[in-house]
Amino acid sequence: MAMLDGKQIVLGVTGGIAAFKACSLIRRLMERGAAVQVVMTQHATEFVTPLTFQTLSGRSVAVDLFTARPVGPLPHIDLAKWAHILVIAPATANIIGKIAAGIADDLLSTLVMATESPVVLAPAMNANMYSNPIVQQNIEKLRALGYRFVEPEEGILASGDRGVGRLAKLTAIIAEIEAAISGEVTE
Ligand SMILES: Cc1cc2nc3c(=O)[nH]c(=O)nc-3n(C[C@H](O)[C@H](O)[C@H](O)COP(=O)(O)O)c2cc1C
Repeated sequence: MAMLDGKQIVLGVTGGIAAFKACSLIRRLMERGAAVQVVMTQHATEFVTPLTFQTLSGRSVAVDLFTARPVGPLPHIDLAKWAHILVIAPATANIIGKIAAGIADDLLSTLVMATESPVVLAPAMNANMYSNPIVQQNIEKLRALGYRFVEPEEGILASGDRGVGRLAKLTAIIAEIEAAISGEVTE
């Protein structure tokens, strides 16, 4: 039996260049037996269209808190219960900051507030953004609260600069999802 057989995964996609990598992540998770419900921020739709994720996941993509009805009439609450795990990949500096501050002003951030399931974040951003002390403090705060992070890698970034900020390898993200689902404690 595949490791993620029957698992219901909400994949949050936020507005960064690495949003296209979520296409491959959906496929890899589905190959392992998971059902994947994509939730995009409005800004993520500037990078990849909902149609692409909808086609790959076989499920309608939820973006707007007030109109999306992927699994029931209260999208943030119903999805929060549906999700065995919530994965945000790529996670922007913005969504990390919003979660750390308790802001719930769109579907994805409201869903994070409402869920009792494990949350895995895979940050991806410019190296200066990633090393910004505010971003680092937010990550530390969330780690202490039990949020799980898959650290970005060093390499050439979208800007052409070299630094730490590339989305982690999909194998590392999937390993963290599997660890979270099997209840392994984070370091
Ligand atoms: C071309 C472009 C690329 C961007 N790439 C990133 C990125 O990789 N990581 C990031 O944190 N923000 C990135 N941003 C900034 C975010 O899109 C911006 O902070 C936005 O408010 C994020 O919204 P969201 O978190 O609700 O999706 C990028 C912006 C632009 C215009």
